[in-house]
Amino acid sequence: MSLADRFAKVRADFPILRRRFHGKELVYLDSAATTLKPEPVVKRIADYYLLESANVHRGAYALSDEATRNFEEARADVASLIHASPEEIVFVRNTTEAVNLAAHSWAEKNLSPGDHILITELEHHANIVPWQILAEKKGLKVVAARILDNGQVDEADLFAKLKEPVKLLAITGCSNALGTFTDLSKIIPRAHAAGVKVLVDAAQLISQKPVNVRELDVDFLVFSGHKLFGPTGIGVFYARHELLKDMPPWQGGGSMIAEVTLEKTTFNEAPFRFEAGTPHIEGTVGLHAAIRYFQALDFDDVRAWEHALLKKATDGLRGIPGIILYGDVPDKGAILSFNLRGAHHSDVGQILDQQGVAVRAGHHCTQPLMKRLGVPGTVRASFSIYNNDADVEAFLKAVSKARELLT
Ligand code: ALA
Repeated sequence: MSLADRFAKVRADFPILRRRFHGKELVYLDSAATTLKPEPVVKRIADYYLLESANVHRGAYALSDEATRNFEEARADVASLIHASPEEIVFVRNTTEAVNLAAHSWAEKNLSPGDHILITELEHHANIVPWQILAEKKGLKVVAARILDNGQVDEADLFAKLKEPVKLLAITGCSNALGTFTDLSKIIPRAHAAGVKVLVDAAQLISQKPVNVRELDVDFLVFSGHKLFGPTGIGVFYARHELLKDMPPWQGGGSMIAEVTLEKTTFNEAPFRFEAGTPHIEGTVGLHAAIRYFQALDFDDVRAWEHALLKKATDGLRGIPGIILYGDVPDKGAILSFNLRGAHHSDVGQILDQQGVAVRAGHHCTQPLMKRLGVPGTVRASFSIYNNDADVEAFLKAVSKARELLT
């Protein structure tokens, strides 16, 4: 079967793409914000509610045992997706919550006043703000490595900054705003050699490249289910077992305890110590279905398909006068960020919407990056497994129309 036939079959699993907006068939180019959900994922969630609904880790009956088994099988498959062990996987709400967990558990315990946390100018607010809140509370400092004009991290600057009193490097694996990658296999050993732990924000990376936490030798890695064809409200916090086992709880409640008296509580082992209260059960089984769906596709095929779309869109934009591209490097995720000279990004986004083309226009939750690029925002088109050539053609036509109307 050709790639086009294979991905036409994939597209048919996403009925939302048959909807029309402003009289036009939906062209969804905002997968970096959230991916669409295929039918098998939604069906899996419906089955949980219609046929399997019970709480986990509590019941003394078969239905609850089944729910617990499904929940823990989801954890095991998430672990195998990133080559971790199940006891290293904590379910959280999203990437943002996972970074907050690292900040308010590991970093709060292990960092001391005067220590520095190194980030980069590429980071999403989720990998900036939790560190700033912690820094304020504990007398730490957040410092940032610079980026180059092409949207890649300035490694010379990063490596120069990897020294005392930096204790943690919190870095994205793939920029959500530009699609540029960071060279983790080079950066992580350099950080470790300087005695610095590393947290990787893999929110975008997880759908763009295979992730192997053992090979990367990363200390913490975080991502969201909803950017991997899964439901919203479910995310993953990975921590190396020897770190996770000594991390203190950060939220108290049911499930995370060993024993409670009115005087004192002792805590459950990791990862359960970090999952207080009834968890997002349908989220975990939905994420499990999403991982199975994604793994049934060959990753090389996914990359080849999305990159052909990215290339066609990038080449097409280059042919439109007045286009400014950001993060325009050969090896990048399927994310295309641009502006139209003389036009505001919001106006371009609005005209694209009128043509049925859904993109994100704004700062992409990366205000420091936008400031570094000297723009208030960009228009961002992101491509995924359900997009096709016709989507790219509609996108290019809509951008040409925006140019006609706005410049
Ligand atoms: N972080 C998401 C984005 O990049 C919402 O659009």
